[in-house]
Amino acid sequence: MNWDRLWTDVNLACMTDASLGVVRDGAVATKGGRVAWIGRADQLPEADEAGSGACTVLVTRCGGAWMTPGLVDCHTHLVFAGNRADEFRRRLQGESYERIARSGGGILATVRATRAAPLHELAAAAAKRLGDLLAWGVTTVEIKSGYGLDLDTELKMLEAAAAAGADMPVDVMPTLLAAHALPPEYAGRRSAYLDLVIHEILPAAVERGLATGVDVFCEEIAFSAAEARSVLQAGVSAGLRGHVHADQLSDGGGGAMAAEVGARSADHLEHLSQQGVEAMARADVSAVLLPGAAHALGARRMPPVQALRDAGVSMAVATDANPGSSPFTNVGMILNLACTLFGLTPEEALLGVTAAAAKVLGIDADAGVLEVGKRADFALWDVQDLAELCYWVPGRSPLAGLVKDGRPVNGLGTRS
Ligand code: NIG
Ligand code: FE
Repeated sequence: MNWDRLWTDVNLACMTDASLGVVRDGAVATKGGRVAWIGRADQLPEADEAGSGACTVLVTRCGGAWMTPGLVDCHTHLVFAGNRADEFRRRLQGESYERIARSGGGILATVRATRAAPLHELAAAAAKRLGDLLAWGVTTVEIKSGYGLDLDTELKMLEAAAAAGADMPVDVMPTLLAAHALPPEYAGRRSAYLDLVIHEILPAAVERGLATGVDVFCEEIAFSAAEARSVLQAGVSAGLRGHVHADQLSDGGGGAMAAEVGARSADHLEHLSQQGVEAMARADVSAVLLPGAAHALGARRMPPVQALRDAGVSMAVATDANPGSSPFTNVGMILNLACTLFGLTPEEALLGVTAAAAKVLGIDADAGVLEVGKRADFALWDVQDLAELCYWVPGRSPLAGLVKDGRPVNGLGTRS
């Protein structure tokens, strides 16, 4: 075993158990972009045992920083044009998100702007937002479409998502969310739009390899559980990961439906019923908690975190970054809200943006934990206690370094 690089003088949070799999005074060696050795520094194999010859291994001393796996943001809407400042004003005056949506605003306002924007502009704007996430240690990002609602714009969004990440040290996993809202040109013709999604948009996205997942907004202002089921079933049988925006504003049975169709996650869940919790637990569907949206929309109900915990449902946490309900790319703020608003422990919140998020995206064999054989995606943190990532929410990210596929990323405070 020849090593490329070695990180020492570092405390590790491997994310391999409920107490974060902590190894103090640790070391990590990488080879070919993967973790080749990890453990306590005093157990490092001798150079000749490692077969590396000390002079060829690049050694990075981390000054006692904490290392976590690169964070995984498993639910975002980073590709969009325009902004919704006018809607923000309306909501501050008491108008609800649902009312704004029904009056042709909300998601549909962003659809109008996104349809009009060229692909390169969408990609450039999304790349900036990706940059914000990278500064918070994120190395894998799921990005949904859903502001196109027609064949061309949905595909344009998926292409923009891939293009945004192409030159950045981040893995982008695009998800088709064509069933995000009923487009105005299909008013009164719901089943015709669902046919378009199932028989044209979805097959085109799959055929061109543009989507790795499929998602549906299951809600009174969007699609019923029966409508959502038909889209998810088509997507899951085409080999995509299934996700559901479920039970966010009302109990629409989305969590239970996610379990029925073999989706990997049900997301939001403020109104999830006990029956939904149990169905998710039985089918091993993860909960994706999105405290940014609950905060921005002034939600009165929070997801049933204790019931999810009791039932053993895996809980991920994500930014839901989007121009309407969760205009946040500050992961520190999301972690803080996960604790203060939803009642997660700092450990649960940190597992939520690492191991649990990787499970949602089906990449747990590669990412989300620090282990031999996993991708060498690391975030280094200038903190004494990892709970600081949740409790101390400065404008500045405490990120001290980022490593993608075994290579230090420059320009983000990385020591190399
Ligand atoms: O996850 N809930 C539906 N979709 C997004 C909101 C998108 C928007 O308001 O633009 C969400 O919150
Ligand atoms: Fe969302």
